[in-house]
Amino acid sequence: MKKINYLLLAFILSLGCKPKEKVYRVALAVPLTGDIAAMGQGMKRGAQLAVDEANLSGRFKRKIELRALDDRADPKEAVNVANQIVSDPQIVAVIGHLNSGCSIPAAQVYAKNNLLMVTPAATNPKLTLQQQESSWKWIKNIFRVNTTDDVQGQFAANYVLKNLKIHTVCIIHDKTPYGQGLCEEFQKAYSAQGGEVLSFEGISTGDRDFKALLTRIKSQEPEAIYFGGIYNEGGLLVKQARELGLKSHFISGDALQTSEFFKVAGAASENSYITNVGIPPERIPQAKTFLESYKNKYPNKDIQPYDHYAYEATNIALLSLEKAGIQAGGNMDKTKMIEFLRTLKYQGVLGVTEFDEKGDTKNKAVSIYLVKNNQFVPLN
Ligand code: ALA
Repeated sequence: MKKINYLLLAFILSLGCKPKEKVYRVALAVPLTGDIAAMGQGMKRGAQLAVDEANLSGRFKRKIELRALDDRADPKEAVNVANQIVSDPQIVAVIGHLNSGCSIPAAQVYAKNNLLMVTPAATNPKLTLQQQESSWKWIKNIFRVNTTDDVQGQFAANYVLKNLKIHTVCIIHDKTPYGQGLCEEFQKAYSAQGGEVLSFEGISTGDRDFKALLTRIKSQEPEAIYFGGIYNEGGLLVKQARELGLKSHFISGDALQTSEFFKVAGAASENSYITNVGIPPERIPQAKTFLESYKNKYPNKDIQPYDHYAYEATNIALLSLEKAGIQAGGNMDKTKMIEFLRTLKYQGVLGVTEFDEKGDTKNKAVSIYLVKNNQFVPLN
């Protein structure tokens, strides 16, 4: 009887001990829960589409898997997530993070472990600049497919002054490397060209009531409010501004170019000006197939601002895996994957991507949109 039990136990254990299938994994590190999960979930859809297409293509002898991890838009959690990523030997590259505040500290963890990082959304210049510093002792592993806030801030300042003829602004930022960084770049360019900045103030992410700040701003009578931050706080700011009868124009950056902004702001989003990095995907011939495939795969989902960036970043990482990373016998050389990107010229859904010596895309296009009836209407 006892012997039969042992045999049964051995059989049960053997079921769980099947050799694991060898795969190549791409990690995606973005907020999947919390206030800005909508944008992270959109990026997951974009990255998943790229992985599915790679599997269908038959280009790889092993299956490609996407492993999505939730950094909750929190820099400390981002470092935890980065440590989980580098401890998974099947991960060949990381796509992420969404927030500059998460990307900057997490990048070091990847660098120390020779892991390629391609960011599809973080716009603070410091992300890639940090690997140019003499204190950076590791491989220069950071690449970015979107342009940066020095470019976006300067573009916005020029447009506001020259095209919109707005000469006075109050600036509000969310104290994050993204929001504050973008506002500093805007302020620098705007003041240098003769625009007058009446105030420069910070709010905290998660705050919900901005009436006191907006009442102060109303008394300053600015022609516009320029905001650096994410759609939740941005949506509430413009909504409460209108409730207080504040009629100043509302202008902001990439993290508001999402239908989520309309949900938060309601009718108050009308006539906002929003910039985003890159060219609208509808205008790029190579993006046509992506937009169709996305709609087919996710028929009920609005495309979020960085979904096509996540798709492109994943495709670029997979190309470097295919062309440089996979060695004889299926083993990996992660350093070769990183080196491969230094000379890449890639034609995709963002147009042409080539990286400069910092690891940033040479594509510096920025677009500006006017909100009309819950649509972003391109102005340039
Ligand atoms: N562009 C935003 C950032 O850098 C999302 O955090």
